[in-house]
Amino acid sequence: MAEEFTTKTVRKDGGIVINDDWPGYSLDLFNYPKHYSGDLECVYIPHGVIMDRTERLARNIMDDLGDHDTVVLCVLKAGYQFCADLVERIKALSRNSDHTLPMSVNFIRLKSYVNDQSTEDLHIIGAEDLSFLTGKNVLIVEAIVDTGKTMTTLLKHVEAFRPKMIKVAGLLVKRVPNNSGCFPDYVGFEIPNHFVVGYALDYNEYFRDLNHICVISESGKLKYKV
Ligand code: HPA
Ligand code: MG
Repeated sequence: MAEEFTTKTVRKDGGIVINDDWPGYSLDLFNYPKHYSGDLECVYIPHGVIMDRTERLARNIMDDLGDHDTVVLCVLKAGYQFCADLVERIKALSRNSDHTLPMSVNFIRLKSYVNDQSTEDLHIIGAEDLSFLTGKNVLIVEAIVDTGKTMTTLLKHVEAFRPKMIKVAGLLVKRVPNNSGCFPDYVGFEIPNHFVVGYALDYNEYFRDLNHICVISESGKLKYKV
């Protein structure tokens, strides 16, 4: 699973690499809710690009896991939008081809961030008993992987219930210096070490109601700090 971070445009796992010098798009070029004006630096990944990439991830997942019963495990809260859109694309492929991916969808909640900082204690809330995963193909769906600590903890927790196979889909992988070398099997985008919001990614629960993935501004951080 592990992969080095290097300068290139596509990861070995197929993820699109966004380089450190990508300035994002000017906010003037897109629509976004007025209540966030002044709180954002730029549109980093427009909603349409997220959707198109998700469609391709759905096909890759279908190619690998198709025709076997799969339990989708959505990591809340930030993963809800990506999971919903990914499942929707897989459903569309199942409708339109000979291969199908029978899915059930379950949810697990993890919390580790306060402001823009990861806290040491990672809480697993809800679905502590995952015995329904025993013997199944499991697809864990996460919005973002940075240090990999959450993913490692979650994998250990899930493995204890002895699924037949575990795959992880992560919309974003963040290039951070302290990455544990733990990466998803399916990656949407690899991004620089910026705090991003939108598409269900939050800053203290704000910005989930923003379609695009954006970089938060310093004044935005101050405004919603706890
Ligand atoms: N944004 C929102 N939530 C996060 C991030 C981020 O950049 N990294 C880890 N959790
Ligand atoms: Mg969060």
